[in-house]
Amino acid sequence: MNFKTISVLLAFIAAVCAQAPTNEYELKDADDKTCLRADMALTIQVNYTKTDGTALFAWDLPTYNASDPNTVVVGGSCAENGTAELTLSTPAGSTSVSMTFTMAEGSTYLSGVELSYTEDPDIFVNTTTPNDNKTVVTTGLQVFEAPAGRSYKCNNQGNLALNAAEGTMLMLANVQVQAFDFNNTFGDVTECAADTTTISPNATTVAPNATTILPTTILPTTPPPAPEAPQNNYTLTIDGKVCLMALMALQMEANYTKTDGKVASAKWNVPANPAVSGSCGNDTSVLELKYDGNDTITITFKKSAASGLLQADDEKFMVSEISVVYMETSARFPDTNSSGTIRTVTNNNLTAFEGSVGSSYKCMAEQDVSLSMDVMLIATDVQVQPFGLSDNNFDTAEECPADNEISNIVPIAVGCALAGLVVIVLIAYLIGRRKSHKGYQQV
Ligand SMILES: *[C@@H]1O[C@H](CO)[C@@H](O)[C@H](O)[C@H]1NC(C)=O
Ligand SMILES: *[C@@H]1O[C@H](CO)[C@@H](O)[C@H](O)[C@H]1NC(C)=O
Ligand SMILES: *[C@@H]1O[C@H](CO)[C@@H](O)[C@H](O)[C@H]1NC(C)=O
Ligand SMILES: *[C@@H]1O[C@H](CO)[C@@H](O)[C@H](O)[C@H]1NC(C)=O
Ligand SMILES: *[C@@H]1O[C@H](CO)[C@@H](O)[C@H](O)[C@H]1NC(C)=O
Ligand SMILES: *[C@@H]1O[C@H](CO)[C@@H](O)[C@H](O)[C@H]1NC(C)=O
Ligand SMILES: *[C@@H]1O[C@H](CO)[C@@H](O)[C@H](O)[C@H]1NC(C)=O
Ligand SMILES: *[C@@H]1O[C@H](CO)[C@@H](O)[C@H](O)[C@H]1NC(C)=O
Ligand SMILES: *[C@@H]1O[C@H](CO)[C@@H](O)[C@H](O)[C@H]1NC(C)=O
Ligand SMILES: *[C@@H]1O[C@H](CO)[C@@H](O)[C@H](O)[C@H]1NC(C)=O
Ligand SMILES: *[C@@H]1O[C@H](CO)[C@@H](O)[C@H](O)[C@H]1NC(C)=O
Ligand SMILES: *[C@@H]1O[C@H](CO)[C@@H](O)[C@H](O)[C@H]1NC(C)=O
Repeated sequence: MNFKTISVLLAFIAAVCAQAPTNEYELKDADDKTCLRADMALTIQVNYTKTDGTALFAWDLPTYNASDPNTVVVGGSCAENGTAELTLSTPAGSTSVSMTFTMAEGSTYLSGVELSYTEDPDIFVNTTTPNDNKTVVTTGLQVFEAPAGRSYKCNNQGNLALNAAEGTMLMLANVQVQAFDFNNTFGDVTECAADTTTISPNATTVAPNATTILPTTILPTTPPPAPEAPQNNYTLTIDGKVCLMALMALQMEANYTKTDGKVASAKWNVPANPAVSGSCGNDTSVLELKYDGNDTITITFKKSAASGLLQADDEKFMVSEISVVYMETSARFPDTNSSGTIRTVTNNNLTAFEGSVGSSYKCMAEQDVSLSMDVMLIATDVQVQPFGLSDNNFDTAEECPADNEISNIVPIAVGCALAGLVVIVLIAYLIGRRKSHKGYQQV
């Protein structure tokens, strides 16, 4: 075991633990036939101006799931005239990458890229231009080239410079693309040189004709967090005493009908700090949240019917009813056939978030509460106590069973952390050995 072995190991661990996910994107034409397919793992790097200099910042496009609009939103079209445009955006619109493919003289290639992103100050730490929208437009490219009807393939990572001077680039790996003449599956493959030679990848850097409306840049290695619903603290008080407290991250998911008659699904977050109202009673408490205009979520907590046999200690509480009101805006429900319609959905036959009176109910795991065939409330990071808080705070927490099951993510993260630790220990050991060899003559 030497340093070289260790660096190979490190590179392997980095690859397994930190690579951007490889996604499959497809565009369909008017006849619902695939006209462009692009498989790739995409990482974006930009350079931003900080209060104390410039920095590079890189982030990945997340794992794409065609039926989940909270992953990547795929848009674009294939035009008759030989250009196709593929647009990949994050749902909040904070990142958008638009790729233009051109067909000319019997071959197809990527001819232009437009990158837009918002300098979210939570991610672009110390940026001098918080929340500015930046756009980098690059034209005149001729990469990912393949003869018409064939696909271009490159598993090795290649960097596509959008602004070479500033280090703005797309880092692409596991690429296979084909625009036009797509016949159900990828055509014959034209492989990149990096894949066909055994030389390790000297990333292909193409410095193009870049028009930049960009700042300077960034970058540490932490990718920005996926947009998650914020956990809010909802409290109701009577005479200054807390009578209901609920920590929850809430999302809504609803099916809707698009203008083409197809059913799609929309998912959105209850934002930070909605308006809170409600009432506390001896046996029933109601929490009402109002957000984004007139959208509301009303949650009714009940104590279980007091029976003469029950000890006070055995009394349970639960959510017995949830009612939601939301407007089908086209921003949230792309292409909806009933934009502006206000929907109300109630399930008054629930038993959720069940705990003992005198305790709080806690569940970090995701819980999907179905309200109808088409509408669901998704709760995570929950701790609630709707009755009898002593001391204005939660009493002992009763944890839900799901929190005690080990998720898949944890072992992978732990495995990667352990692997990293092993490597660090090995390096320390080797350094220690070298030092001791220097210090003492070997016998
Ligand atoms: C091809 O058509 C698209 C959309 O119809 C248009 O934006 C583009 O400029 C056209 N390109 C050429 C080369 O005519
Ligand atoms: C942000 O600026 C503060 C104050 O200048 C500094 O202490 C901190 O290290 C900076 N953070 C980063 C990530 O640059
Ligand atoms: C950036 O774009 C977002 C969304 O379009 C908009 O809300 C925001 O105001 C823009 N920021 C600036 C500084 O113009
Ligand atoms: C970031 O941009 C600045 C100025 O635009 C440049 O001097 C610096 O070299 C760039 N950083 C990297 C790592 O390319
Ligand atoms: C598409 O593929 C099918 C079967 O592989 C073949 O029969 C057909 O001719 C192809 N169509 C075109 C336009 O190449
Ligand atoms: C790889 O990059 C190095 C330094 O940038 C350069 O000297 C070398 O010629 C490149 N090798 C190939 C095969 O392009
Ligand atoms: C940049 O684009 C312009 C116009 O499209 C062209 O005339 C010029 O030759 C290009 N420069 C480079 C370096 O490709
Ligand atoms: C929630 O907010 C209330 C009122 O602001 C506060 O008293 C309580 O400590 C908060 N609870 C938690 C767990 O932060
Ligand atoms: C609630 O309980 C308190 C104390 O036990 C009692 O005084 C009050 O009448 C009850 N209120 C209702 C509406 O039952
Ligand atoms: C919310 O409802 C009120 C009263 O019905 C109405 O005046 C207001 O325009 C609504 N707000 C939105 C954003 O729809
Ligand atoms: C209420 O829920 C229970 C079990 O979840 C179910 O058996 C019952 O049929 C439901 N009642 C109504 C009126 O939907
Ligand atoms: C949307 O409809 C599908 C198919 O009927 C169903 O499986 C799914 O649960 C529905 N989504 C929601 C949020 O209810």
